[in-house]
Amino acid sequence: MKQNLIYLDNAATVWPKPESVYRFMDQFYRTQGVNPGRSGYDLAVKAGSLLVRLRKRLTKFFGGDEDAPERLVFSYNVTDALNLIIPGLLAPGDHVITTNLEHNSVIRPVNHMVRDHGCEATYLPFDAAGFIDPDDIRKGIRPNTKVVIVNHGSNVIGTVQPLKEIGCLCRERGIVFVVDTAQTAGIIPIHMREMNIDVVAFTGHKALMGSMGIGGLCIRKHVEVRQVRAGGTGVRSVEPHHLEEYPWRLEFGTPNMVGVASLWAGQDWLDEQGVERVHAREMWLASRLVKGLQEIDGVQLYCCDNLQNHLSTVLMNVSGVDPSAVGTMLDADHDIATRTGLHCAPLVHQQLGLVESGGGVRFSVGAFNTEEDVEAAIRGVADIARWAHERRARSVHKIPVIEESEPVQISA
Ligand SMILES: Cc1ncc(COP(=O)(O)O)c(C=O)c1O
Repeated sequence: MKQNLIYLDNAATVWPKPESVYRFMDQFYRTQGVNPGRSGYDLAVKAGSLLVRLRKRLTKFFGGDEDAPERLVFSYNVTDALNLIIPGLLAPGDHVITTNLEHNSVIRPVNHMVRDHGCEATYLPFDAAGFIDPDDIRKGIRPNTKVVIVNHGSNVIGTVQPLKEIGCLCRERGIVFVVDTAQTAGIIPIHMREMNIDVVAFTGHKALMGSMGIGGLCIRKHVEVRQVRAGGTGVRSVEPHHLEEYPWRLEFGTPNMVGVASLWAGQDWLDEQGVERVHAREMWLASRLVKGLQEIDGVQLYCCDNLQNHLSTVLMNVSGVDPSAVGTMLDADHDIATRTGLHCAPLVHQQLGLVESGGGVRFSVGAFNTEEDVEAAIRGVADIARWAHERRARSVHKIPVIEESEPVQISA
């Protein structure tokens, strides 16, 4: 491993995690690593109690129905959660409205519902600054619109969508509003009841400061979801079919208890630091990054002129250089980790006209980055832009000047 790696790929996964998270996971697995909910001995009950307490804690964290914590269900990650909720809500003939900002973890399950199950889907474009206009959602609603799915914070351009307005529209029309909070949970406050959000889908390994392999859904009480998988639940084993009651309706097999422990410790860390404080610090660093990049000739930035309602995720390109080459140079020459390409969100790049040229270079600042990291990133990009400029200047051929009096002879 590179000792001095500057990690600016926090949108992929936040890394490192707080020390307290590593310690708690280790201690929990060593001392309580038994299967919860499957047996009645003391240790199994104790391990299970963390699961029950985390359901309550996260329901409160997301502003869900605190009297129904069983509707906070765990999955492997947000992709898994979305693959439970999308087919669990949509039936043949239903229409879903979503956006060009979505990750493939929404696009693909939605497209499968369209191709394989007779559903209809509308993908709404974002405006020039990277935002969805709630009015476009209103105009897109059809009599058979059942669900609206919105990515709260773009993993490509970092813009944060106006959930409250969209939620209000959905509530008035009885449409289920699902939010993909992969990039925002733990960094932007989310309150389901105040924002009229019906379903939050979350992943544990980003700003919630948990581990990989844990995510889930928080589902309001009035939302009906069909179960789409079946298996062991640890209770009522005699039942021949999967249980209808939550959380079992949407949980299958042994839970990731080390992941549960990580999320518990992640919540402790967030309580200590304050979600808004972590975000404010990241945005301070992001604004320095944007300012520095804006001053470099040949650098193109996307949707970050104004960092209001924005995450610390910045998309850019260096004129005339393939984004993947920029990523390789940043890594090889400057020890900087970024993510290049289409970022699993092809429609964003399509709308920005970047697919043909290989997408973009994404910097994503995290809680543990420093001002020095950002300065190094700016220097690295400046070096690459200078090199690209010199390369272009060298490759410009001098065109021979032809005297006007000299007739040009072209042979047949
Ligand atoms: C907006 C968004 N949705 C979904 C995902 C998928 O997350 P996971 O791989 O944890 O399921 C990501 C991951 O980057 C994301 O940024």
